[in-house]
Amino acid sequence: MIEQTADIIKQALSLENPDTAIILGSGLNGFATTLERAKSIAYKDIPDFPQSTVSGHKGELIRGFLGNKEILCLNGRFHLYEGHEPSVIAKVIHILKELGVKRLIVTNAAGSLQTTLSPGALMLISDHINFSGKNPLVGANDDNYGPRFPSMNKAYTLKLRQKCKEIAQKLQIELNEGVYLMVLGPNFETSAEVRAFGKLGADAVGMSTVPEVIAAAHCSMEVLGISVITNYAAGLVDNTPSHQETLEEADKASARLTTLLTEFIKEED
Ligand code: HPA
Repeated sequence: MIEQTADIIKQALSLENPDTAIILGSGLNGFATTLERAKSIAYKDIPDFPQSTVSGHKGELIRGFLGNKEILCLNGRFHLYEGHEPSVIAKVIHILKELGVKRLIVTNAAGSLQTTLSPGALMLISDHINFSGKNPLVGANDDNYGPRFPSMNKAYTLKLRQKCKEIAQKLQIELNEGVYLMVLGPNFETSAEVRAFGKLGADAVGMSTVPEVIAAAHCSMEVLGISVITNYAAGLVDNTPSHQETLEEADKASARLTTLLTEFIKEED
């Protein structure tokens, strides 16, 4: 099934050799518009592919080039709070693997758990805390992809993080680094949860990304993750986050993130 879906995508998008795939988070579609020679297919036209149901998420798979680098872009992601089974996210990652993807870039909108990390900031994800209670690898393990008990110790590839920091410095884009904590959602956190998560060692909280990274690390993909901080998490500064605020702030930061990632991809080996 995975092979067939991958074949259909390959033909529909005339794919050659996409080393890198990128998943765009809420309100972060800007990156997709910078791709050259872009070709796309709607998720609904891909057999056996999930649909994304959240506003701010487009629901299309795009192939495009940045210079001579061919990349695949998932414009719209799948959240567990939409009701997707966690294994569906592993399936999407396995389709990318089947298409030859070696490197996954994940982006998301997230709430800040630290007063020093303000809305508009970009945060390179150094590590995560899976607080969702779900895991995409539950069920029979396919040893062709990876082991039953994979390590998550170095899920966010050090080499890619270092490269990304160098590029941010060169472009004079401020880049923080921190730990992303995933909640299942869809409700925003209580202020007690926000205080607790800060004490647990997390810097940002969101409702995505972790299942994708677990599945990608399991099948030996390199991973780079960046959060756009769209708001202070609930109660951190006497505030109440909203999806509207998330989309507006993500839109404002989108250009900076696009510049950073475009340069990162162009300079990749
Ligand atoms: N909490 C959870 N998810 C989020 C937030 C938040 O404050 N902001 C953007 N995504």
